[in-house]
Amino acid sequence: MMNSDMSTLSLSRLVLEMQESATLKMAKMARELKAKGQDVIDLSLGEPDFDTPAHIKEAAKKALDEGFTKYTPVNGLLELREAIVRKLARENDLQYTPNQIVVSNGAKQSVYNLCAALLDPGDEVIIPAPYWVSYYEIIKMTGGVPIIAYSNIENDFKCTADQIEALITDRTKFILYSSPCNPSGSVFSYDELKAIATMLQSYEHVLVVSDEIYEHINFADRHYTIASMDNMQDRTVIINGMSKAYAMTGWRLGYIAAPTWIAEACTKIQGQVTSGATSFGQKAAVTALDADQKPTIEMAEAFHRRRDLIIGLLEQIPLLLVNRPQGAFYIFPDVSAYFGKTAKNGSVIKDADDLSLYLLAEALVSTVSGAAFGNDRCIRLSYATSEAKLKESASRIEKALSQLS
Ligand SMILES: Cc1ncc(COP(=O)(O)O)c(C=O)c1O
Repeated sequence: MMNSDMSTLSLSRLVLEMQESATLKMAKMARELKAKGQDVIDLSLGEPDFDTPAHIKEAAKKALDEGFTKYTPVNGLLELREAIVRKLARENDLQYTPNQIVVSNGAKQSVYNLCAALLDPGDEVIIPAPYWVSYYEIIKMTGGVPIIAYSNIENDFKCTADQIEALITDRTKFILYSSPCNPSGSVFSYDELKAIATMLQSYEHVLVVSDEIYEHINFADRHYTIASMDNMQDRTVIINGMSKAYAMTGWRLGYIAAPTWIAEACTKIQGQVTSGATSFGQKAAVTALDADQKPTIEMAEAFHRRRDLIIGLLEQIPLLLVNRPQGAFYIFPDVSAYFGKTAKNGSVIKDADDLSLYLLAEALVSTVSGAAFGNDRCIRLSYATSEAKLKESASRIEKALSQLS
């Protein structure tokens, strides 16, 4: 047996420089407190509280019973890629072929594949802030440089085409955003997307990666994708998946629709990393996409009611600045008016991290600091939970905040 000198053993610089996912970290802290018997309300995780609809589960069971348990093609079952092509035509008025689709183990892996496929060291990716936590870390992991386009609650957390244009350089590879947005819930309107598409006509070297995983949770309007705008489909990658629309977070199924050269590159990467998504899960995804979309519509309606409820409750808290999200299931209030205030134990709330930890300790409500999403004046609350829990958490938050002086 080899003798190892512990002082020479080390982790990679990659992992040492990587931030742990802030959302998963807060959820873990909440779970630990719960395990100690504390009555924690968890508003930190981005996960529908609904169960996967029964007909989707049945399709997976049937596939298992039929012995559908082997490797599938790396880029996904043809049957599923065809169902995705149908979905894109039906819902987004976009024409794709199955070889432009790559099915992965969740949209998170789709983001990783894309960054690994497109970025050389030093290449820049423009990400409008607030952004989904993983974008920043995945770009860094794959050698890219995240370039942030900032926004705040006054402009509904939406940066403009002009702001993005000001950040474009020769090294810009793509722009990456989610709309509806995690964490703000903001949705780019048709006109806002059109302005970005028009601006990009002057920058042929820049692609768009449009994360549309919250597509169906949109309270404002129908969903618009930049891929459907003039000259954009050939330079846009759509990311989507089953997690949010079908309450299938644990199934780990996401996909991209992309120009063929990008889809082929992502397949090449996936072929060396995961070999593709779970076989029987893919069968269930075909059913999810092809069947009646009523369960998805009903879940979106429930999120809409909860959004109105949580806005109404949080707006009553004196110093909170509450946004009015048009989609997803998050609210992103500006809590900066509490910075500098002191808790009963004498500790001072310096920033959103402190406030989020204070709410966990004092109100037993877990939220996520906006710092991880590129906005350190806000906290993110997920309202993917029951109305009773939302009411209880708002009243606990109000009480805890009123104790700051
Ligand atoms: C904006 C955004 N993109 C992608 C994902 C990842 O989804 P999946 O569960 O398919 O990996 C999430 C999950 O929270 C998300 O919020």
